[in-house]
Amino acid sequence: MALLPILCYPDPKLHTVAKPVAEIDARVKNLIADMLETMHEAKGIGLAATQVNVHERLIVIDVSEQHDSPIVLINPKIIWSSPETHLNEEGCLSVPGIYDGVERFDLVKVEALDEHGKQRLIEADGLLSVCIQHEMDHLLGKMFVEYLSPLKRNRIKTKMLKAQREAKS
Ligand code: NI
Repeated sequence: MALLPILCYPDPKLHTVAKPVAEIDARVKNLIADMLETMHEAKGIGLAATQVNVHERLIVIDVSEQHDSPIVLINPKIIWSSPETHLNEEGCLSVPGIYDGVERFDLVKVEALDEHGKQRLIEADGLLSVCIQHEMDHLLGKMFVEYLSPLKRNRIKTKMLKAQREAKS
């Protein structure tokens, strides 16, 4: 297993639209293991393949308190969402240190393959629901900061670029 570098906003590669995973082979299984390790190491609760510069529809999530209940979603599809929505504070491993409110569906039903290629139906609420919606946006090349006002987004962009320059020097 290996830790993977996480792309940081405003890297344009984060706006790539992911393609479906064609086959759950050894390469994909290795990628899943590496993504889980990378997410746990970074103390995140979700990571999309997009964030590690692999543009395929694959997400890992672990919202458990013990960090011992990973969920793998391959080629996920939201088949139902509740009419009710809620404003939740979100963060993202690709936008470190930034947290802001995003409106999400309260409940979603998601169809996806798991790491064994088995079709699963997940009915999610609470943090899991928010996390699934956030990660699925990544697969479409969409970042949570894009829900914020242009003013806020520009401020975040400037802050991120400055931090990235400072990290390099
Ligand atoms: Ni994110």
